[in-house]
Amino acid sequence: MSELKKLVERLPKAELHIHIEGSLEPAMMFELAERNAVSLPYPDIESIANAYNFNCLQDFLDLYYKGMSVLQTEQDFYDLTWAYLLRCHQQNVVHCEIFFDPQGHTERGIEFQVFMSGICAALDKAKTDLGISSKLIMCFLRHLDEADAIATLQSAEPYLDRITAVGLDSSELGRPPRLFQKVFANAAEMGLKRVAHAGEEGPPEYIYEALDLLNVDRIDHGNRSLEDEALVQRLANEKMSLTVCPLSNLRLAVVKELHDHPIRRMLALGLNACVNSDDPAYFGGYMNENFHTLIDAVDLTRDEIFQLVLNGFESSFLSRAEKQDHLNRIKSMR
Ligand code: HPA
Ligand code: ZN
Repeated sequence: MSELKKLVERLPKAELHIHIEGSLEPAMMFELAERNAVSLPYPDIESIANAYNFNCLQDFLDLYYKGMSVLQTEQDFYDLTWAYLLRCHQQNVVHCEIFFDPQGHTERGIEFQVFMSGICAALDKAKTDLGISSKLIMCFLRHLDEADAIATLQSAEPYLDRITAVGLDSSELGRPPRLFQKVFANAAEMGLKRVAHAGEEGPPEYIYEALDLLNVDRIDHGNRSLEDEALVQRLANEKMSLTVCPLSNLRLAVVKELHDHPIRRMLALGLNACVNSDDPAYFGGYMNENFHTLIDAVDLTRDEIFQLVLNGFESSFLSRAEKQDHLNRIKSMR
C-alpha cells in the first residue's frame, strides 16, 4: 500500500455525512429479513450487491427504502449502528455525525422510541468502549410534504437531548429547500443546528435557498456550486462546509468517472470540503476507501489529505475546545 494510503489509515478522522440506514450491508439485510420474517426482492446476498447499479439518486433511493424495511426492532437498530461504529474503529474514524431518517421508519409503523433507543445505545457503547464521539442529525424526507416534517419534529421532542441538528435528504430535483422553511425555522427555535443536501443533483439555486432560507450550518454534497462562480466565492468567504462524498458521486452519476471528481478543484478554490461515505454499504466503501480511491483517481497530495481531514473536524458540531484537541493532534502528525 502506498505511503499516502497508509497515512489516511493512520490519521484520526471525522465523518459528517453518513446515513445510518445506508450502512446496512447486504449480509445484515439478509440476516434481519430472516430474523423478522420480512420478504426481500432478492434470492441471496450476492444478488443484493449485484442490484446496486444506479443511474441517478432516485434509482438508489428506491432500493434504500426497500432495504430499510428489514429494520424493525430496537435490537436491529442497535446492531446496524454498532456495525457502523466498529467500522469507524477499524478505520480510525474517531468522531461521527450520523443522519437518520425517522420518516422512513414511522411510515412503516416503527415508533420513535424503537429506533432512538437502539441507535443511542450503540452510540453510548462506542463512546465508552471505543472512544468514538458522535452526534445525531435527524433528516426530513423531502419527497414528503412539510406538514409531515413538522409532525416528525414534534415527535422528536422527547429525544431532543440526543439530537444535534436537522437535515434534509431524499429526492432532490423538484423538491427545493424553500418548501421546508417553516420546519427549519422551528428547528432553529428549538436550538437545533441545520444542514441540508443541496447541489447533489439540484441546481446552484437550491444551495442559495439552503443558505438563505434554511440558514444551514453546512451543505451536504454541494457539488453543483461549481457551476456558479459567485456562489463559490460566497461559500469560500463564509467558510461554509461542504460534506463531499466521492464514491457516492461516482455511483449516483454525479461525476462520470472518479478521475473527473472535483475535490481538488474545490480545495484550490478555497472551499471547505471534507470527505465522507454517505451510504457506504450501497456505494462500495467507508471513509478510508473513499480517500484511497481519490488517491488513485485524482492524485490527492499529502497536503490535500491533511486539509480534508482537518476540514472534517473543523466543520463538525464539536465544541471549539474539542475541535482544537483533534486539530492539534493531526497537525502534530504532519
Ligand atoms: N442523497 C439524498 N438522500 C439520501 C442520500 C443521498 O445521497 N442518501 C440517503 N438519502
Ligand atoms: Zn447523503
